Amino acid sequence: MDDFDFNQFPDFPELFPGFGDELFDRPMTEDEDGIIECPFLTLRDVVLFPQMVMPLFIGRERSLAAINAANTNHENLIVAAQRDSEALDPGDDDLFTIGTEASIGRVLRMPDETTSVLAQGRRRVEILEFTQWTPYIRVRARVIEDIDKWQPNTEALMRAVRVLFDKVVGLNQNIPEEAYAYALNLDEPGWLADFIASTLTVPVATRQEILEILDPHDRLQTISILLAKELEVLELEGEIQSQVQQEVDRSHREHFLREQMRIIQGELGELDVFGQELNELQEAIARKNLPEGVRAKTEKELARLNAMPPMSPEIGIIRTYIDWILDLPWVEESADNLDVRNAAEVLDADHYGLPRVKDRILEYIAVRRIASDTMRSPILCFVGPPGTGKTSLGRSIARALGREFVRISLGGVRDEAEIRGHRRTYIGAMPGRIIQAMRRVGTRNPLFMLDEVDKLGADFRGDPSAALLEVLDPEQNNSFVDHYLGLEYDLSRVLFVTTANYLDSIPPALQDRMEVIEFSSYLEEEKLGILKQFLIPRQIEQHGLTRKNIQFEEEALQVLIREYTREAGVRNLEREVATIARKIARMVAERKRYPRQITAEKVRDLLGPPRFIEDIRLDEDEVGVATGAAWTAAGGELMTIEVNTMPGKGNLILTGQLGEVMRESAQAALTYTRSQVEVLGIDPERFERRDIHIHLPEGAVPKDGPSAGVTLALALISAFTERPIRHDVAMTGEITLRGRVLPVGGVREKALAARRAGIRTFILPRKNERDLMEIPKHLRQDMKFVLVDRIDDVVKVVLQPSDGGQREP
Ligand SMILES: Nc1ncnc2c1ncn2[C@@H]1O[C@H](COP(=O)(O)OP(=O)(O)OP(=O)(O)O)[C@@H](O)[C@H]1O
Ligand SMILES: [Mg+2]
Repeated sequence: MDDFDFNQFPDFPELFPGFGDELFDRPMTEDEDGIIECPFLTLRDVVLFPQMVMPLFIGRERSLAAINAANTNHENLIVAAQRDSEALDPGDDDLFTIGTEASIGRVLRMPDETTSVLAQGRRRVEILEFTQWTPYIRVRARVIEDIDKWQPNTEALMRAVRVLFDKVVGLNQNIPEEAYAYALNLDEPGWLADFIASTLTVPVATRQEILEILDPHDRLQTISILLAKELEVLELEGEIQSQVQQEVDRSHREHFLREQMRIIQGELGELDVFGQELNELQEAIARKNLPEGVRAKTEKELARLNAMPPMSPEIGIIRTYIDWILDLPWVEESADNLDVRNAAEVLDADHYGLPRVKDRILEYIAVRRIASDTMRSPILCFVGPPGTGKTSLGRSIARALGREFVRISLGGVRDEAEIRGHRRTYIGAMPGRIIQAMRRVGTRNPLFMLDEVDKLGADFRGDPSAALLEVLDPEQNNSFVDHYLGLEYDLSRVLFVTTANYLDSIPPALQDRMEVIEFSSYLEEEKLGILKQFLIPRQIEQHGLTRKNIQFEEEALQVLIREYTREAGVRNLEREVATIARKIARMVAERKRYPRQITAEKVRDLLGPPRFIEDIRLDEDEVGVATGAAWTAAGGELMTIEVNTMPGKGNLILTGQLGEVMRESAQAALTYTRSQVEVLGIDPERFERRDIHIHLPEGAVPKDGPSAGVTLALALISAFTERPIRHDVAMTGEITLRGRVLPVGGVREKALAARRAGIRTFILPRKNERDLMEIPKHLRQDMKFVLVDRIDDVVKVVLQPSDGGQREP
């Protein structure tokens, strides 16, 4: 007993049985009814389980007397806990009636003047009667023998409890490892339950409850529930613990790194650098001419920057923001040059023709001269085919006005934020394109070109055209708010010019704000002029040549236009000229012989085989083949339509990449033809007995639009009446189901395409008559234009008699 170390498990007063077992060899002295009569000890805050060894600390006189009596008489002791641990002198009602018979060892006087005794529980007992109260208590009690009846699943329960206990021991640092090993060796369910109950940190009431469960299986069941609960709590504790640990580790680490950085920066003198930068920023803000609100906001941001520790990640963000404000032109603007004559000269020097646009610009400048400075700028929208000089004229206008020029392309912009920017809370936020362009240009009154407004997209990220509306609205654009800046910016002094290829694709609300100026495709003679006056001199100069090096013959220019390009504008033309200039420049550089005079032959030589051949003109009149004219981005083009019929059931087949509108036109043409069987002398049965195939050759080119209606109808009528169509006539026009001919677009281009192909008779809707005025007189003179109101008019002109001989009188 002397070598027993009470301090071994300071928080675990229970000891394992086995320690000095021989000490507890007192006989158990019940009578045949299982009744014993012994001294009694009141326990406070502890429950002694059978088989368990535990030091009992003795405070009360009466308790010491009971122990002494037991020792003297070689008796066992009966112990039970008091219900209320605060009671100083509990009576019989204050004590639990289920207790434990215990053997006791020697009485030990502890260094701190207290007394303790080592006790081992023996059996459960039920206290029947208190037989004596002084000088110590004696009780009569009935011994409760363990029920030795296993239930079928007791074994399984024991195993489960051991597994749980193993986990609890692993997590609970107050239970020594050996406890599990000991539990493994206990093969009595009741005993196992008692042992585990004595190790768990549970309230006395719970322990007492377990002591009072007499059926070992039930007791173990209760223990398993207790263990599961305990485990849950322990796991949760563990989680919290490790989170706390991580948090502590991280902040320690950060703190440590920051300290180090501070020291390093101090060593390098960089802390001063930061301070110096702040000073510089402050000076820059003071120097910059800013509107009041903007200045206030900027200074607020600077103050935030000042208050920040030098290595805060937010510093970069705030600095960038301040830099944006400092770089933007808030007040800076250029003086307009309002000299109309000078402007006219500049515009003519840069571009051939385009009288309407040039006039509009000169008007604007003239009005600005006399109107007040605050006159609203018009918002111009240049609409026309590619390469017709929209963008480059914009540049030229800026030059004429003496304004800066800036351009952004809206093609494919689908996100509102691209126009208006992202809020600063967004990672990597930036101002939108409008503000970016303003920074680039550096004055607040540039000519701002918004290219390709017709190619704006819209999707779930918001509608960019809504943002654009605001930009282009003179009522609102003096206070345009970019999300990133979060400040009002004045765009009202900007001269906006937008460009588009098609008017239809521009949102109507936008169209409404703008003054549309159309750029039409160039005629051949205009192209000649542009070539001679602009493209050739420019390319010659850019390639380091002089006019003495090369001279283009007139015929060569025609070949360039007709055989190497087919376009409304002059972009490819310029490219071809550049190719020639490049090849010659190379010959010059290599000191080879080179042609000074560029002939048509030389052009074909330098550029290779012609890329386009003249529009194909039919050689003879045919049944079911009509010549129409189409209006494409490249200008006017001829197009043949073929109709054939074959035995069948009246099906309509359409081939040659026809768009939806053209298919509908074909249906309408067929309906009209069927309605006219009597007038035209067609056997109505033929429509039921034959299939109709309509084909537009050059199948790879998509074709659409209503203007082929007349041509389709004529080809159909020709096929059913078997009267050939004149091959020297071209036609255009939309039709109605009742055979009326409606006006169409691009008549000028179509007529000129026919003329180019050598067709001298052109049939067009009467309503298009005034378009003829747009064709230069000398080109009009040798052509015959037939204005029509109805299909019947066309039939009269183009259908030959069925014998293929003479025309109808
Ligand atoms: N009337 C003209 N006089 C002189 N050069 C011209 C003329 N028209 C076009 N060009 C030249 O043609 C080239 C193409 O013009 P630009 O880029 O302005 O076309 P665009 O109308 O903006 O076409 P897109 O619709 O494809 O943007 C430029 O080099 C331009 O200088
Ligand atoms: Mg352009």
